[in-house]
This record gives sequence, structure tokens and C-alpha cells, in this order.
Amino acid sequence: MDNHPIGIFDSGYGGLTVLREVAALLPQYDYLYLGDNARSPYGTRSFQTVYEYTRECVFKLFDAGCPLVILACNTASAKALRTIQQKDLVKMDPKLRVLGVIRPTAEVIGTYSTTGKVGVLGTTGTVLSGSYPIEIGKTFPNVEVYQQACPMWVPLIENNEHQGPGADHFVKEYVEQLMEQAPGIDTILLGCTHYPLLEDKIQQYLPAQVRVLSQGTIVAESLKDYLHRHPEMEQLCSKNGTRRFLTTDDTTNFDEHASIFFGSELRSEHCSIPHVS
Ligand code: DGL
Repeated sequence: MDNHPIGIFDSGYGGLTVLREVAALLPQYDYLYLGDNARSPYGTRSFQTVYEYTRECVFKLFDAGCPLVILACNTASAKALRTIQQKDLVKMDPKLRVLGVIRPTAEVIGTYSTTGKVGVLGTTGTVLSGSYPIEIGKTFPNVEVYQQACPMWVPLIENNEHQGPGADHFVKEYVEQLMEQAPGIDTILLGCTHYPLLEDKIQQYLPAQVRVLSQGTIVAESLKDYLHRHPEMEQLCSKNGTRRFLTTDDTTNFDEHASIFFGSELRSEHCSIPHVS
């Protein structure tokens, strides 16, 4: 069987919230998910480390036949995408592509705001990279972007503690810190693919008129548009409707947690990549 799935990569489980929406909108394609759970979270790691880890995972997905890889991880998109595109892809088969999640989100976020004040919640790495203010400014130069790093959220979510009282404490703290920066914020982007699991709690600590946006549907629409504009890539992607899941860590653990993110049960396979035992 012709097998050239679309690769979806994340440091752990978060990218499953993106795959879920992408596969719902574009069900005909094959998808291969890779979660680097053995080395997650990436959010507080250095540029060099995030680049090296992400590069290894992208190469793994290319080796598995993916012509197109989506970095369904803001941290990897912020810290590794450009270097992979400029240093690595130029030496490879020119048909291969890697796309991120920050630009497609930044290109639409301003349309949701009436006050022109947008908040971004993300990992420390994503916030410090400045990628969102830079990318949003290209499309919406008049939109003011306020950012808040939420370093405790990914560990809470990865450890399945996102519904407990510890989560309430840290959700309230970071949401309040963001809103204190500018009371007029009317749109908040969840700029980390793990955060949709906290969406209900986040909304609880916000005024009702503040809109909280997740990236899944935005990225799905953007991929649909990309494939429409790039028929040469669209033709390379195989269309048997399969979904496969790889994790660099324990599969039983992955399968137990992954359904919360993906919305249905799944069975993963273990994959080794260089430097991961
Ligand atoms: N899902 C990743 C993101 O969107 C999580 C980051 C992490 O591993 O800390 O940034």
C-alpha cells in the first residue's frame, strides 16, 4: 500500500489536540503522529536542545515516508522550525516540507479581537522567543500582543493533574498575571497545544466576554488551504484514511493518557530515535 502519511510532531501529547481537528477536517489522508514523551516537556529547554530533539523527530518522520511534517508544538515551531528549514531541508529531497503552528495562528488571530488587545498564553520558550508578537505584527501591525508564560501547565497536564486543585491554583495565577498587563484584552490564544485541556478552567477565571481560542481548528483550516495551493504536495500525501501513533516513551502509558487529548482510544507503537533509550 502506498504510504506517505502527513507527519504530526509534538514533544508529547499536546499535538494530538491538533491532529484531532486536522483529521476531522481532512479525514482522507494518512497521518503518522510522533510524541517525544521521553524528553518532554520542551518548554523550558534551550534553543539548541529543542532544535536537536525536534530535528531528530522530523528526520524520523521523513524516514517513515512522510513528505510533509507539521510541528504541532509551539515551542518547536518557535525554536526549531526556521533552523530546520534553513539548515537541514536545503540539503534534503526538495519535495520535503516542514510547517509550524505559529504563523497560521498569527495570520488570523487579529480578526477575533475588537479591542485590538490580544493575549497569548504559552510555554516559557515560546514566550521568550517573541515569535507571536513578531508574527502577529506582520499581519496586524495595530494589534497589541500581551504574553504570559505558564511553565507549570504542561507538567500538570502531562501528569494528568489538570483537573485537580493544583491546576486551579496555577490557572488562576497565570490568567490573572496576563489580564493585569492590559484589562482590555478580549481575545486569548492558547499558544501551546497542550492547553486546550485546561480551556474550561481558564475560562472560569476570565470575564465572560473574553474569548479563548485553541489552535486545532485554525491549523486544520490552514493545512487544507496549503494543500489546495500546493497540488504537488497534495498528490504526494497518501489517502487511505489511516492513523498511526509513535511515542519515544512507554506505549501503555501513552495509550492511557492519549485518549484525553485525541478524544478517542488509540494504540501506539514505540519508536527509538538517536539519543533516546
Ligand atoms: N505542546 C507543546 C507546545 O505547543 C508543549 C511544550 C512542552 O513540551 O513544554 O508548546
